[in-house]
Amino acid sequence: MVQLTDKSSSHTEIATWEAELANQSPQEILRHALKQFDNIAVSFSGAEDVVLIDMACQIKKDVRVFTLDTGRLHPETYQFIDRVRQHYNIKLDIVFPDSAQVEALVNDKGLFSFYQDGHKECCGIRKVRPLRRHLSTLEAWITGQRQDQNPSTRASVPIVQVDTAFSSEERQLIKFNPLANWTSAEVWQYIHTYEVPYNALHEKGFVSIGCEPCTRPILPHQQEREGRWWWEIAVDKECGLHATNLAANAHQ
Ligand code: ADX
Ligand code: SF4
Repeated sequence: MVQLTDKSSSHTEIATWEAELANQSPQEILRHALKQFDNIAVSFSGAEDVVLIDMACQIKKDVRVFTLDTGRLHPETYQFIDRVRQHYNIKLDIVFPDSAQVEALVNDKGLFSFYQDGHKECCGIRKVRPLRRHLSTLEAWITGQRQDQNPSTRASVPIVQVDTAFSSEERQLIKFNPLANWTSAEVWQYIHTYEVPYNALHEKGFVSIGCEPCTRPILPHQQEREGRWWWEIAVDKECGLHATNLAANAHQ
């Protein structure tokens, strides 16, 4: 186990890990992450990032997983999240937004304010703040981000990084992205080969899956995040879970 409380030593350690893990498989990256940190969890969106859970469960039986329940997910996604919990017999933490903040937003602006105001305010309340609260209990987290998900914003997603968006003065939070170098095709090959359960929305043309009002299926050859917040321009298609890190990576 490592203690990465000191900022300069943690950045050095992370750079070493990044170099060591650069050509490793997602499974090896996960093995490394789970070995280095006890207090670590996989963040699961209810989509094809289920492969991380499948891999992690083979490394550590009691792996911790959490999902941000925005209150606006598709019925298929809720069903899938619960199926995954049962299938892998894992403790899956469902993280909710602050009800007073949600009430204030929808009573002030209605249930679909994001179509007029942009998604940042609603995502801030339903996703980013609950995520911040949950991450404050962890030393490290694991995400399913991939470089091929969005050429505008995710092309330089690293395998491991200090999470500058969610670290605090007192402690550094480490973020692992074991699928960073995998393509969508590799993820789906894994799902088919190992008969991993998947969200029924994928059979209806959905590729990248988020909240129901902000996600739609895409056409052949569309970029996968074109179905997310489709009324906004491509560089804005980040909800804030990763946006600050992504901006930092792009400028490194
Ligand atoms: S988002 O920022 O646009 O919403 P995306 O859907 O691409 O993210 O998912 C990338 C990764 O972010 C997922 O693999 C997962 O690790 C994390 N993530 C996204 N949405 C959630 C969610 N609702 N709950 C937990 N983790 C999530
Ligand atoms: Fe709100 Fe849409 Fe963001 Fe979900 S994706 S939190 S509904 S703006």
